[in-house]
Amino acid sequence: MKKIILLIFSASLLILASCGSENNSETTSRNPDDAKQKMAEKLGLTVFELENGIGPIKEKIQLSGIDEIKAASGEEIFVAKCAQCHKLDERYTGPALRGVTETRSPEYILNMILNPEEMTKRHPEARKMLAMYANQMTFQNVTKDDARALLEYLRKESK
Ligand code: HEC
Repeated sequence: MKKIILLIFSASLLILASCGSENNSETTSRNPDDAKQKMAEKLGLTVFELENGIGPIKEKIQLSGIDEIKAASGEEIFVAKCAQCHKLDERYTGPALRGVTETRSPEYILNMILNPEEMTKRHPEARKMLAMYANQMTFQNVTKDDARALLEYLRKESK
């Protein structure tokens, strides 16, 4: 009798142990991309949009060393079209922009410049910014090339 009880006891221990390890391996082997995918779906976005913003830039871009000529033209555009709301080192109507290339992907920055209204409506990060700054960034009639030059200027100033 004792033997049978012991048998049942150890068998149930075994079952319990195997259940536990099954659960563990399930959580550790779960693809982290799945979580991102779910989060994006919940927000009605693609994973690319969640990571790189919503707008005309739909693919990763190639970046190399700073192009000084592009950065200089970006600075001129910045003074003409962005400086009324942005400074590099201080919060103004909008956030300080030095270092933005550390916190946002290049594609996110381009989409923010080219499509700010949709970004602040649909992207969770841009929505947070809108809530924080209580001001809507507006499209400044810039071309994709202008936006690329602005990015180069921001990259240069963020170094
Ligand atoms: C009318 C004021 C205004 C103008 C003009 C403006 N911005 Fe903005 N910008 C903002 C505000 C405010 C935010 C925060 C998001 C929001 O509330 O719309 C912002 C956000 C941003 C962000 C996102 C920063 C981050 O950390 O996510 C970038 C990048 C940016 N602006 C770049 C530019 C550039 C480049 C220009 C010029 C083409 C420009 N902005 C023109 C007001 C402005």
